[in-house]
Amino acid sequence: MNRDSDKQAAAVAAVAEVQNGMLVGLGTGSTAAFVISEIGRLCAEGLRIEAVGTSLATEAHAREVGIPLRDLASVAVIDLAIDGTDEFDPSLRAIKGAGGAMLREKIVAAAARRMVVVADGSKRVAQLGHAALPIEVLPLARAYVADVLAACGGLPTLRGGDASPTLTDQGNIIFDCDFGPIDDPALLARRLSAIPGVMGHGLFVDEVDAVYVADQGVVERIERSAAPSP
Ligand code: 5RP
Repeated sequence: MNRDSDKQAAAVAAVAEVQNGMLVGLGTGSTAAFVISEIGRLCAEGLRIEAVGTSLATEAHAREVGIPLRDLASVAVIDLAIDGTDEFDPSLRAIKGAGGAMLREKIVAAAARRMVVVADGSKRVAQLGHAALPIEVLPLARAYVADVLAACGGLPTLRGGDASPTLTDQGNIIFDCDFGPIDDPALLARRLSAIPGVMGHGLFVDEVDAVYVADQGVVERIERSAAPSP
């Protein structure tokens, strides 16, 4: 089994939670893409759902496979969100945002009654911090926020570089910030959220209700209720 087959196996297992009539949050990235394809296949067979996307790319994919879309701006409550992750720890805390969609992903996760993450086994870590933490920043706050992130112990790198910074779907810039091993994700999340100019970050402390993780073709579902508390 290669990594793509594992991503697909986790995605297909999670999509089994989708039921007629649901409003579903669709994640972003290569694993979430398998979710979208599978839901599209089921819609073609008669599944009746509506969805909101966490990025323009996801919305385009959903349209392509025939999933009816709602505008996120008009939605307060989502039944089920299914998204990928860059890493998750044993307590189901996660770092997301390598695809740059962490702000919308966080809004969709927060609005969702249940959020499940789909992943191949490479995303499982003992402690968060292997991946740099993506932080979405208002462009005019670039220098100020970089300074504060460094004071918080991070090493911020502007995604895309100074000459042509990568812009998010909202037109903001991204710092990929290396904090090393993160001892207290909840504390770091609170500190980041309090910085003026930070629009969002990829630290998901308590949004994830369950993870479907596939290793060598074997899918395991880990529920937050059964996971060790931090
Ligand atoms: C995008 C994300 C993705 O879900 C995350 O980066 C995982 O992507 P992939 O499934 O391609 O490894 O958070 O912002």
